[in-house]
Amino acid sequence: MLNIIPKPQYAEERLGEFTVTRDTTVFADPRLSYARDRLIEEVEKACGFRLQVVETKQAAIRFLVDKHIPKEGYTMEADTERLTITASAVAGAFYAVQTFRLLTLTELLDSPEMLSMHALYIKDEPEYEYRGILFDDARYFHGPDTVKALLDMMAFNKLNVLHWHLTDNEGWRIEIKKYPKLIDIGSRRRGSQHIAWGNRSIDWTEHEGFYTQKEIQEIVSYAARMNIMVIPEIDMPAHMGAAIAAYPELSCGDIHMEVPIIHGATPETNGIGDVIACAGKESTYKFIYDIIDELSVLFPAPYFHIGGDEAPKKEWKKCPHCQALIREKGLKDEEELQGYFNNKIAVYLERKGKRMIGWNEILKARTLDNSVIAEYWTPQRDPNVENYLMSGRNIIVAKHQAFYFDMPYAQNTLKRTYEFTPEKYGLNADPERILGVEGTLWSEWISTDERIQYQLYPRMQALSEVAWTKAENRNYRDFRLRLKKYLPILDKRNIGYCPPSMLDPKNPLKRAKICRAFVKSNAHIEYNRALVVQKRRRYKL
Ligand code: ACM
Ligand code: ZN
Repeated sequence: MLNIIPKPQYAEERLGEFTVTRDTTVFADPRLSYARDRLIEEVEKACGFRLQVVETKQAAIRFLVDKHIPKEGYTMEADTERLTITASAVAGAFYAVQTFRLLTLTELLDSPEMLSMHALYIKDEPEYEYRGILFDDARYFHGPDTVKALLDMMAFNKLNVLHWHLTDNEGWRIEIKKYPKLIDIGSRRRGSQHIAWGNRSIDWTEHEGFYTQKEIQEIVSYAARMNIMVIPEIDMPAHMGAAIAAYPELSCGDIHMEVPIIHGATPETNGIGDVIACAGKESTYKFIYDIIDELSVLFPAPYFHIGGDEAPKKEWKKCPHCQALIREKGLKDEEELQGYFNNKIAVYLERKGKRMIGWNEILKARTLDNSVIAEYWTPQRDPNVENYLMSGRNIIVAKHQAFYFDMPYAQNTLKRTYEFTPEKYGLNADPERILGVEGTLWSEWISTDERIQYQLYPRMQALSEVAWTKAENRNYRDFRLRLKKYLPILDKRNIGYCPPSMLDPKNPLKRAKICRAFVKSNAHIEYNRALVVQKRRRYKL
């Protein structure tokens, strides 16, 4: 069994071994020389020697172009003499290098004199073109090192989209030159509701942080080198509390408030989440256009995420500006006003060469532009998404039950993530219309790298296989066997993860208890148990 995650679409082992020593030579078609250099770098990191580049196809390792191979696909053929990698473009050759890292165990061996792998033939290509992770840097700011470590693991697992949730009620994390108060005011808050939904106890430690535009550019180009596109999300018109704290005129009633500490809108929080950007004032659009202008330069991706989720209409209902616009444009209600708002932003984005993505709530408006991509997250079935898909529009799937990685494993088990298929969620239309899948790491309760790692690994590995490997080639038992051999890589890299014994808790009472505790008072209960299990494992108690 080849121990590769995500599993290739086709692989066969052959007789013999291919070995890499300090005398091994490498040739690459100039179009694939970037991938060649990555392979040389990986070998050097593991073994301490640099392979020699040669200009002849007689080399032992060869990167060749074959125009017939799909964009991110590759083939890999190894016998006792040669390793030949073919791809039509550099992305596929880059992924072949990731496969090579797993086959030769470059991640695990300590300064070996040589590397070896089975003779084999692999023909591989991704199932979905969009293979994403959402990272929430708004609720807690994590910083460039954490994002780069995340990107490293994403590339290793052949994921190619970082959906970066950079703004929310609890913080604005990206420098905008034209609106400095977004950082001066919006990037810090006095404390944090740190336990969980129902428990409103506050940790009164100030929390702050933001990315300068220079840091953003550096991270975006770091990602691009690993075939990862970074899509920014500026959530609007709701989840804008931090922006409104900085610029009260963005809200319907020019509401003065501090950057919210408590998550969500409840009577105890004076319905803080009800305060959203005013769709009736022209100045709101000017503000958003200005932000898009700056971000379009920083993020070359042809997509832009506007959030659009969880927008209560309480403020719009009583706002003279919003109501006047509804009358002027002949809109039916506040949902149609959000549709009007979204369409205006979509048109502006289109002028910048960007396609708009929004959470599936945006489909409530009947008037939405057809080019918009809906991202399906709600745990409840949403017939609007099913209809949107059936009528030939595009969606991305981040269904809560399978892909919300901030939830306890007792609720969203690893098996449920792994066994995702669109059909299970009523998505039966042309598969081409589903651009891909995304795992989401929201960070309301996740302030440390250790906790990020626990929630994310090995869910990222399961996600990568859903995103990459066709459903008919996936099998959960087989995945768990491969995972067992893969986890030492995480150990070696000092990356934490949820212990295998806790990935699919069977006891329904225990599961229910953890899920109840998560919602009521303590998001950390499962994590704390995991730490005990890990400690026992480490000391073999
Ligand atoms: C979401 O979880 N509100 C997209
Ligand atoms: Zn308004």
